Amino acid sequence: MFFIKKYSFTLIFINFFLLLADALIASDELTSYNDFEKPYEKSELKSGSYFSREETRAIEQDEFENPGMIWVERGSELFNMKMGNKGGSCFSCHNKDNNSLYGVATSYPKVYKNKLINLEQKINICLKNNMSIEPYLLESDNLLSLSSFITYASKGLPMNVSIEGEAEKYFKRGKELYFERIGQMNLACYQCHDNLAGNYLRAEKISQGHVNGFPSYLMRWEKIASVHRRFQFCNNQARAEPLKIGHKDYNALQLYIAWRGNGLLLESPSVRR
Ligand code: HEC
Ligand code: HEC
Repeated sequence: MFFIKKYSFTLIFINFFLLLADALIASDELTSYNDFEKPYEKSELKSGSYFSREETRAIEQDEFENPGMIWVERGSELFNMKMGNKGGSCFSCHNKDNNSLYGVATSYPKVYKNKLINLEQKINICLKNNMSIEPYLLESDNLLSLSSFITYASKGLPMNVSIEGEAEKYFKRGKELYFERIGQMNLACYQCHDNLAGNYLRAEKISQGHVNGFPSYLMRWEKIASVHRRFQFCNNQARAEPLKIGHKDYNALQLYIAWRGNGLLLESPSVRR
């Protein structure tokens, strides 16, 4: 049994490689851009849903069918729930007149106290500092529900991360990672998402690799996933060692990618296969 498994795995691997080999050789010339050059002009930006199958897109667009909305609803309940020994809720400090969170999701990841953090990490900071509650585990249902709810409040607004000031060094690191060839297949992100966007990889069309649909519902896992979880999946697919969710390099990568897609409208919860 073990042997058969291993064998079929090798076959998949070879298949995958053959599929990519020609396209990658052809695409190898492009290795980086000038400092602030973007692979896609604003008018060429296309969100991931543009590349997904029609039936998947239909599920995403119908809010009654979109399974990501369950996370948004759960997040809304948590947001309004009194928690911790101070007896407050998120809503008691964040409502439309007070510290509104409308629009904030478009600006993450961002620098907070000399560190680049993503929205999930910011939520955990608020839990700890303002409610004296133990932070939620990254990628836990509670944390993803809250971030889905807060992101949903910015749905339809353009992505708008800043790479200025302190953020610039993280941006540069993120760009470096995006172009770094890694893993057994020696593949970098750009080779798929810049050079092969629109081409098929097995049954999936490769998109421009934006993050405006996150948190995103992945049908293969039957749950919502963070950007970092998606990065891990791409690392695995290219047979490279993934980093931990919440890793500072994943935040840097997320900042670079979000910046490439600044101007794209936030679509979370998106639905993907
Ligand atoms: C071997 C090709 C390949 C490589 C290399 C690759 N990806 Fe992907 N990636 C895919 C495929 C296929 C998908 C699923 C279809 C899609 O949405 O593009 C995907 C999806 C994504 C998505 C989700 C897009 C959406 O709208 O849901 C992001 C973000 C992403 N990749 C980022 C990265 C990053 C960052 C790297 C480098 C660490 C990377 N990918 C490396 C093939 C690749
Ligand atoms: C006691 C009041 C208080 C409570 C309770 C509270 N927050 Fe906050 N929160 C703040 C203040 C003040 C800020 C702005 C200062 C800062 O960023 O630390 C903030 C900032 C934030 C931000 C970042 C906003 C931005 O502009 O980037 C998010 C996201 C957030 N809170 C989410 C939550 C969530 C989710 C909860 C409930 C789990 C929560 N907060 C509970 C007071 C609170």
